[in-house]
Amino acid sequence: MEFSVKSGSPEKQRSACIVVGVFEPRRLSATAEQLDKISDGFISNLLRRGDLEGKPGQMLLLHHVPNVLSERVLLVGCGKERELDERQYKQIISKTISKLNETGSMEAVCFLTELHVKGRDSYWKVRQAVETTESSLYTFDAMKSKKDETRRPLRKLVFNVPTRRELAIGEQAINHGLAVAHGTKLCKDVANMPPNVCNPAYLASQAKQMAEQYQKLQVRTVGEEQMAELGMHAYLAVGRGSENESIMTVMTYNGATDANAKPIVLVGKGLTFDSGGISLKPGEAMDEMKYDMGGAAGVLGTMRALCELDLNINVVAVLAGCENMPDGKSYRPGDILTTMSGQTVEVLNTDAEGRLVLCDALTYVEQFDPDVVIDTATLTGACVIALGKHATGMLANQNSLAHDLTAAGEASGDRCWRLPLWDDYADQLDSPFADMSNLGGRAAGTITAALFLSKFTKKYHWAHLDVAGTAWNSGANKGSTGRPVPILTQYLLGRAGQSSVE
Ligand code: BES
Ligand code: MN
Ligand code: ZN
Repeated sequence: MEFSVKSGSPEKQRSACIVVGVFEPRRLSATAEQLDKISDGFISNLLRRGDLEGKPGQMLLLHHVPNVLSERVLLVGCGKERELDERQYKQIISKTISKLNETGSMEAVCFLTELHVKGRDSYWKVRQAVETTESSLYTFDAMKSKKDETRRPLRKLVFNVPTRRELAIGEQAINHGLAVAHGTKLCKDVANMPPNVCNPAYLASQAKQMAEQYQKLQVRTVGEEQMAELGMHAYLAVGRGSENESIMTVMTYNGATDANAKPIVLVGKGLTFDSGGISLKPGEAMDEMKYDMGGAAGVLGTMRALCELDLNINVVAVLAGCENMPDGKSYRPGDILTTMSGQTVEVLNTDAEGRLVLCDALTYVEQFDPDVVIDTATLTGACVIALGKHATGMLANQNSLAHDLTAAGEASGDRCWRLPLWDDYADQLDSPFADMSNLGGRAAGTITAALFLSKFTKKYHWAHLDVAGTAWNSGANKGSTGRPVPILTQYLLGRAGQSSVE
């Protein structure tokens, strides 16, 4: 989709369609009012006759409105004017886009970005409109033999801002929104790919493909042989039952003016399939464990957004690719593993595999002398119970990093909520035979998993994003959500000094 911003009055637009809001009950927005005036009350007459109440998401498509230059006018119900909030705004945009795509308008001028949304400015409204548009047009049909194609799809969308002064900020909002949207799309595409295609080598190939496009990006991989040399025996143990080799993909982006500036390090759990291993999962919805690489997909998508934004920071990203399968060679409950850090772990459940892969990846990244490390993982079912599908779980060993991530979540609409990392929970990981076990029991599962990781992140500032509830949707609209690309990209924008909210 091609996006642009404009500042002009609705009656002067010569477009296939112009989109204006109507509030409940039957109240015209300022722009609808302008159209009403030049059309001698055409719109208010319709409303009076009861054609549109203005309820959120209601639509009325009009053709050839008198004296209006555009071919069509789409009236969009926006609910009660005072109640228009962020969620409703995004829903309205999303419905508008689906409708426009059906009408045959290949371009449109949208005035919904002028509506008042509590506490949000033009930048936010334009950026969210871009992201929501791209998101609502997303489909994953790479594996369909027949693809559904819209006959006359929407191709060009112009967002109106109230004043010319806001044009520059609107353009920046489009650039940021498009970068996030493209990163999100890559995340979704890779995460939705079936596990017989998307294995650790596939993750690596996606990263390498990106590096061919961007000069500042370099990619290399660490396979099982090198992992053995490095002593990454926890990571190796998880992948031992799989026919697919464990591969850790390391992406380095050098954008800082000072080449030696400490990097921001991102680490993503990349379990391309998590069967549970010998501690096999129940069969119901096991297919969804292809999404256990959602952390890695999120990191990959964030790197895409970063490259597109061309930010002047240094970033290292690690995609911790691995597959957890039951087999004669699999690791087992009772095994004691020596991690790269030298600490030993008693395996009590082979389904608590994410922390085993991550702990070695987190030790591996020490060599980069990180400024901060953020890992993201579909780590615990307990996080879905605690926070559901709306907030990502966040745990951190440093307050200012936790604060920055919370703010990045608010600014991007991809929110996280902090949980404590108190020592009080630590004894749940005690093992009689090793330095720790990989299982913390049923209580506070998200916290004990993060506490496990915290034993490997003592040398740097670190935060952990548990995206088990937010990375994908189940049920009728099953599919990757593209989270946490928006929050991570927002954090990077902030670190590069390109965000007003830091
Ligand atoms: N990938 C799962 C976590 C998960 C489960 C995410 C369901 C989203 C939905 C992880 O590897 C896992 O199996 N965790 C176990 C840990 C337990 C054995 C301590 C869990 O959450 O049940
Ligand atoms: Mn598991
Ligand atoms: Zn898992």
